Amino acid sequence: MDDPLIAAARAVQERAYAPYSGFRVGAALEAEDGRIFQGANVENASYGLTNCAERVAVGAAVAAGARRFRRIVVVTDAEPPAPPCGACRQVLAEFGRELVVEAVGPSGRRKWMLAELLPDAFGAESLK
Ligand code: THU
Repeated sequence: MDDPLIAAARAVQERAYAPYSGFRVGAALEAEDGRIFQGANVENASYGLTNCAERVAVGAAVAAGARRFRRIVVVTDAEPPAPPCGACRQVLAEFGRELVVEAVGPSGRRKWMLAELLPDAFGAESLK
């Protein structure tokens, strides 16, 4: 049986709005307090305005007052399972580098720490 975070990511993948690419992505982000926030990719006829699932999940979390996270699961139909894009890695890094990132596909699973996916991330410390 799936863990609740994977189940949440699978459920929201069904609601992805991806009429242009056909590539549906669901993300579920677990906050330190146990709450789960979901995001799906939202495409646009002006392609560059597309929002990735991970960033939609971060927006939902921050809007609800959560800023500390433990884990994110990203579900796609890709095999091997697709990791977050570079832009999403940077947005996730804003809220901590100790995040566990899991990619889930039709049969496989992959797991990293965010710091592995985005070493030497640019962050607020560079702005001081
Ligand atoms: N996409 C995501 O939602 N997350 C990623 O990390 C990579 C790409 C979406 C954007 C677009 O709607 C589709 O996948 C194809 O790039």
